[in-house]
Amino acid sequence: MSQYDVIIIGAGPGGYVSAVRCAQLGLKTAIVEGRETLGGTCLNVGCIPSKALLHATHLLHEAEHNFAGMGLKGKSPSVDWKQMLSYKEDVIGQNTGGIEFLMKKNKIDWLKGWASIPAAGKVQVGDTTYDTKNIVIASGSVPSSLPGVEVDNDKGIVVDSTGALALGKIPKKMVVIGAGVIGLELGSVYARLGAEVTVVEYMDAVCPGMDKDVQRSFKKILEKQGLNFIMGAAVKGTEATKSKAKVTYAPKAGGDDVVIDADVVLVATGRKPFAEGLGLDALGVKMTERGQVAVDGHWATNVPGVYAIGDVIEGPMLAHKAEDEGMAVAEVLAGKHGHVNYSVIPGVVYTTPEVATVGQTEDALKAEGRKVKVGKFSFMGNGRAKAVGQADGFVKLIADPETDRILGAAIIGPAAGDMIHEICVAMEFGASAQDIALTCHAHPTYSEAVREAALALGDGPIHA
Ligand code: NAI
Repeated sequence: MSQYDVIIIGAGPGGYVSAVRCAQLGLKTAIVEGRETLGGTCLNVGCIPSKALLHATHLLHEAEHNFAGMGLKGKSPSVDWKQMLSYKEDVIGQNTGGIEFLMKKNKIDWLKGWASIPAAGKVQVGDTTYDTKNIVIASGSVPSSLPGVEVDNDKGIVVDSTGALALGKIPKKMVVIGAGVIGLELGSVYARLGAEVTVVEYMDAVCPGMDKDVQRSFKKILEKQGLNFIMGAAVKGTEATKSKAKVTYAPKAGGDDVVIDADVVLVATGRKPFAEGLGLDALGVKMTERGQVAVDGHWATNVPGVYAIGDVIEGPMLAHKAEDEGMAVAEVLAGKHGHVNYSVIPGVVYTTPEVATVGQTEDALKAEGRKVKVGKFSFMGNGRAKAVGQADGFVKLIADPETDRILGAAIIGPAAGDMIHEICVAMEFGASAQDIALTCHAHPTYSEAVREAALALGDGPIHA
């Protein structure tokens, strides 16, 4: 007889959420995690610690740049970097401790160590092999490497996102390779702490995949905050000494290679699925060409009883996408009908202002030959945003010109990451822009800008 109905490998947002749902649905559940704490990359070295540093440095930025104008006079706070890092560690501890509590509360066994799968229905952790009816691989992702670039987080000169969350000191000059989410969030942190930050990006725009007008505005706002950008530049390598580094890039437009100096280099050029040590090859689990575990519509691999979710399978590498898959696969295992609507998964960049997107982009729809209508509203016309000095940015709604159905949205602005969910819910219900336009929105809120963008798709916004 199997000891478990399901063993989940990996306790990140995909794995631990799946474990809780499995337990709630009456399955005897265990979770394997080799880290000292639960929560995976997101809680330990990703989403949560970066948000702690973004919050603290945002307040510093406000004190330095905006307090005096509001009549808050006096010296700006000085930075105690050690204390800021310990605040971040405390935030991590509270969150990972919370997950441990959830495991106990739901009677989920935490099998401590690194797992391998010697055969279907068997999970080995250390010297012990456990029998289980089902296995869910939720082993996540790791930073991808860049040829010619050697990351050494211990030295703290050329680092990835993990190293950048624990630097020994605040660098004077930081070079960030990659203008994606990680590069811009952590680049913002260090720019606010006084570092001269230069982002080197291969493409001609920041944040690949967003609409061009959103990318342009976002970059302009970041430039205003002091970030420097070198676009169209392919980094070929880095060279680190004891306390400095050199970054070499080739301009895409041609010409000689260029070398720039930095105290710290942050490599943020993407992440790759992580399934090392699981023994998937020997087990015969099919992988995609991109090194992801291949799954069907029910997150099942080709090996019966073995499932996979989150960053290790295809799709956006986002904690909430993994969570949704975690809940859905639990429902499948419990004989229900788990479902994830992949067309309504929001994405958020937690800079100030935040940038949030959902659904399809105007550029992608047009490239497919689809007709679209676009309603845009600037936060300049939003009283609340003005009151807090955060009127940069806009709401953009994309709708079908015939049916008025909302197809996608982008928001650059205060609390964009929270506001996007109004549009997500609307899209889940197949709402039209008029549905949002006809919904009373409290005044004065940032959300009124969403309604105004919806009004812009009809007879026109009021405050523009
Ligand atoms: P990314 O894929 O978002 O961006 C990487 C950037 O690096 C791209 O713009 C790419 O063109 C550039 N690049 C690649 N090679 C280069 C080279 N040799 N020279 C110059 N530029 C180069 O990857 P990122 O920011 O590392 O994030 C990894 C994953 O983690 C993403 O899937 C992201 O969605 C996820 N993540 C999400 C967060 C959020 O939702 N707030 C926060 C942090 C990470």
